[in-house]
Amino acid sequence: MLCLGIESSCDETALALVRDGRLIDSVLATQIDLHALFGGVVPELASREHYRFIGRLYDELMRRTGMKLSDADVIAVTRGPGLLGSLLVGAAFAKGLAVAGNKPLVAVNHLHAHLLAVGLERELRWPLVGLLVSGGHTHLYRIEGPDRFIRLGRTLDDAAGEACDKFAKMLGLPYPGGVILDRLAAHGTADRQLFPRPYLRSDTLDYSFSGLKTAALTWLKAHPEIVAEGNLLQQRGLDTASRALQDVCASYMAAVVDTLLVKLGRAVDHFSDIHQMVIAGGVAANSQLRAAAECFAADRGIELMMPSGKLCTDNAAMIAYLGCRLAQLGYGHGAEFESVPRGRSIPDDAGRLKPFFGEQ
Ligand code: KG4
Ligand code: ZN
Repeated sequence: MLCLGIESSCDETALALVRDGRLIDSVLATQIDLHALFGGVVPELASREHYRFIGRLYDELMRRTGMKLSDADVIAVTRGPGLLGSLLVGAAFAKGLAVAGNKPLVAVNHLHAHLLAVGLERELRWPLVGLLVSGGHTHLYRIEGPDRFIRLGRTLDDAAGEACDKFAKMLGLPYPGGVILDRLAAHGTADRQLFPRPYLRSDTLDYSFSGLKTAALTWLKAHPEIVAEGNLLQQRGLDTASRALQDVCASYMAAVVDTLLVKLGRAVDHFSDIHQMVIAGGVAANSQLRAAAECFAADRGIELMMPSGKLCTDNAAMIAYLGCRLAQLGYGHGAEFESVPRGRSIPDDAGRLKPFFGEQ
């Protein structure tokens, strides 16, 4: 089954072709430089940019692969969560292609797609425990198949990526700060007493990062020289960073990573039938998290599944992959499906997979 996947939930426009769970090719246009000028994603600008690029990216993907719309068996598109204006561009484009080619459509949950992206690289074995750590979400799940996600916990305030981006912003580093924090922390030594591991006494599998953010703000107020250095770092170059700056980044990242892994560990220990754990989403690209998760999995004797870097951040291969898996199970949507913005739950309303105008 050949699936064309379309992703436009935030600031990346992307399309990919996946055949039977294997990636053929993908294209992506990022808007990071544009939004960096404003210190964060500007929704109105994001939708305009998706609209500007989506058609060109489609032409480029088809030219590179030598495929035509008629070759695709199904079209998958991100339904949500995300920015509504951005989601609508992808959904309208997908619906247009479905009409033009009389193709079936499947609307995909972006969070589920992140979690199963590693299926493009390695074989998934159900049931598994999955931790999604992205810019907008920190969710823990028990996953029993491509269509069966049971949420065990979530963040009550900031997401892990948001906690990284906000700390970077406090330091005067440019958006999105998570990647820069990673690079600075890699050269530093963590002081594990410096920042708290928040919300671990609660016996739920929920997270909370606001206490960590407040502790970091208090520390930075007492160390204005570090903030002054952070503000100049972009222009001086990351490799000029002082030992003290690298160390505070390492200490902060260690607090984020420890907190994530403690609750993940509790979730894994809770089930006796789990052989794999997945860590996915943009923050899964973080080198400190990857290293700590390797040790954590080895200690517990469980297989760790983390997608490679490009499959951690937003991409269309993961949308096409999950679209392919859902279509193989017979799920599909009609043209009336609605895009779902962040903060609203995605309805479980898939119908039967069928060509747009019915069988001919
Ligand atoms: O999954 P993603 O690409 O988009 C969302 O769906 O949110 O995640 C973006 C988030 C941002 O907060 C970004 O700073 C963070 O992932 N991120 C990282 C790293 N790469 C991306 N955080 C820490 N270390 C990284 N290497
Ligand atoms: Zn994402």
